[in-house]
Amino acid sequence: MKEHKIESVFHLCEPSELNKEERELVDAAKRATKGSYAPFSKFKVGAAVRLESGRIVVGANQENAAYPSGLCAERTALFAAGAQYPDEAVVALAIAARKGRRFTAEPIPPCGACRQVISGVEDRHGKAIRIFLYGSDGIVVCDGITPLLPFRFSEF
Ligand code: THU
Repeated sequence: MKEHKIESVFHLCEPSELNKEERELVDAAKRATKGSYAPFSKFKVGAAVRLESGRIVVGANQENAAYPSGLCAERTALFAAGAQYPDEAVVALAIAARKGRRFTAEPIPPCGACRQVISGVEDRHGKAIRIFLYGSDGIVVCDGITPLLPFRFSEF
């Protein structure tokens, strides 16, 4: 049996290292936490999607008393973008989270289901999505979903 290794590469940076559009997207994700409905976890997550036209679509986690019926911020944003602008590729996605007023120091990586959906959106448009995970101590930047979801299921 031959051993195989998968290596993931990501970048860690400060907001000042991002360009204007990237900073705008991260700020939109932070602002989007205001739309979170999280009475159960109190964990407010915001996501902002940049489309190829430059348009930004935001989402926030929406919880429900029947817990599994809720939805994460990332999927809320990606599905809203897909429903409203089906022909536009998603080029970037930013995620931010806070408990109370303070944003998390560490970036919050997307859950497994959201990673699979990000992968599906990449496949749908044939374009990698640059991902920004905001933490007040630093921002993780991934070139596409591959570093976060290597060896993934894909129909294509
Ligand atoms: N959540 C997100 O919105 N995105 C993630 O990537 C992880 C978790 C939400 C789901 C739930 O409303 C709350 O955070 C606590 O898990």
